Amino acid sequence: MMTGRRADFLVVANRLPVDLELLDDGTERWRQSPGGLVSALEPILRARNGAWIGWSGQADQDLDSFDDDGLVMHPVRLSSDEVRDYYEGFSNATLWPLYHDVVVPPVFERSWWESYVEVNQRFADAAAAAAAPGATVWVQDYQLQLVPAMLREQRPDLRIGFFLHIPFPPVELFMQLPWRKELVRGLLGADVVGFQMPGGAQNFLWLTRRLLDLEPSKAAVRVGNRPGSVSFDGRQVRVGAFPISIDAASFDKLSRRSDTLERARQIRSDVGNPHRVLLGVDRLDYTKGIDVRLRALRELLVSGRVDPESVTMIQLATPSRERVDQYKAMRRSIEQQVGRLNGEFGRVGRPIVHYLHQPVGREELVALYQAADVMVVTPLRDGMNLVCKEYVASRHDLDGVLVLSEFAGAAAELTSSLRVNPHDLDSVANALEQALTMDSAEQRERMRTARRQVMTNDVDRWARSFLDFLEPVPAAPEAATVK
Ligand code: ADP
Ligand code: F6P
Repeated sequence: MMTGRRADFLVVANRLPVDLELLDDGTERWRQSPGGLVSALEPILRARNGAWIGWSGQADQDLDSFDDDGLVMHPVRLSSDEVRDYYEGFSNATLWPLYHDVVVPPVFERSWWESYVEVNQRFADAAAAAAAPGATVWVQDYQLQLVPAMLREQRPDLRIGFFLHIPFPPVELFMQLPWRKELVRGLLGADVVGFQMPGGAQNFLWLTRRLLDLEPSKAAVRVGNRPGSVSFDGRQVRVGAFPISIDAASFDKLSRRSDTLERARQIRSDVGNPHRVLLGVDRLDYTKGIDVRLRALRELLVSGRVDPESVTMIQLATPSRERVDQYKAMRRSIEQQVGRLNGEFGRVGRPIVHYLHQPVGREELVALYQAADVMVVTPLRDGMNLVCKEYVASRHDLDGVLVLSEFAGAAAELTSSLRVNPHDLDSVANALEQALTMDSAEQRERMRTARRQVMTNDVDRWARSFLDFLEPVPAAPEAATVK
């Protein structure tokens, strides 16, 4: 099924950067896949003329490889049982909650694990077939943690990197997993294993000692150029922290365009030109704390600390993993809360919360960022969170306030934001009130600091810092052997 020449640089991720949509009239179209992984990696891969191995987002589709504007896509087939067991099951009902601090209980199910192993093997086989001798293969995220070892088994000539986009959990939580040794061994197949935060890298190193009796390095891992290491199977595996970012310049550029600014004005007028517009932008996921911010807003309205005539909230919630029970429950709860808020505090033609359960295009997104006085990002746990960085990059005017959960990786970098504990409703409500009443001078000061961070540490720098460890010197072609 692999067509075309083999690639020197390959990304392997659960999803392709484009999602196949099957329309009611029997036709199909591709559109951008949801989530931060694709937002971050797509521009990098396009710049390197690489290839991408991933699933199309639809079950039971046999699709040929194709070229999308210079980027070669290799679709991997998933059956509907595998979508249920590997994707919705093991990836999103076992690993996702386990790695996000068990904010809902993870489900441990043997048949899901078997499917995870089988599908990981399929991705590894596809990568082995698509990679040129000595190529760099960059495996992404929690859905594919066994791929590094499976790929090395077939292709020891490759440089293999792995990056985890979500948090890596505390050791005590990871230890719950019945297949914990297998996952650690799977990751150790890589030459470089990257995490968002030093704590994740440290936890992983510690687990190599506890579970596999290895001897990891002892020095504290620091962001970027201070990784740890562990020797495994005669190789030195480097384990580091590389906080991911966004293509900041493209958000900045878009936010300066006159049509974007005009659209932002139009959005404000469409929602009734209130004194303050609050904005939330998330996948509809129980880790994102959408319910938390709605509860905090309600408290402020009920207690009279905020006048309903003066504020409007816009909440975008992209549909996500809609067949998983916990996602269904969270959607019901959010929609009830929105209905209740609008019922109690809205009036005809003027709801308090404008709720859109749909994705929007990049131009519209940036216009919304421009239109928002307060960006509310309140996850209970988030590996990084790109939305808050996108907001900052879209505010060249230095206006706007970011309310940001301490439990998002980005909080370590965006120290000038109003940081809140999403488990503490008072903390969220107080920060919202402070944001809604902050004067312009303070907004500008805080935003200037945040922009210095985001505009410098962009996604290119992130990729370079990871790849500098993975590809320190160009591969010697004669050293490459293909099994
Ligand atoms: P995650 O990877 O968990 O979804 P991130 O905040 O890291 O969370 O990344 C989310 C990405 O998805 C961002 O690039 C954001 O702009 C995009 N996104 C989220 N919701 C929407 C939406 N409703 N419409 C368009 N893009 C969205
Ligand atoms: O890192 C978060 C992540 O799970 C990515 O792997 C993925 O691209 C994104 O969120 C969206 O999730 P899904 O692919 O399940 O729709």
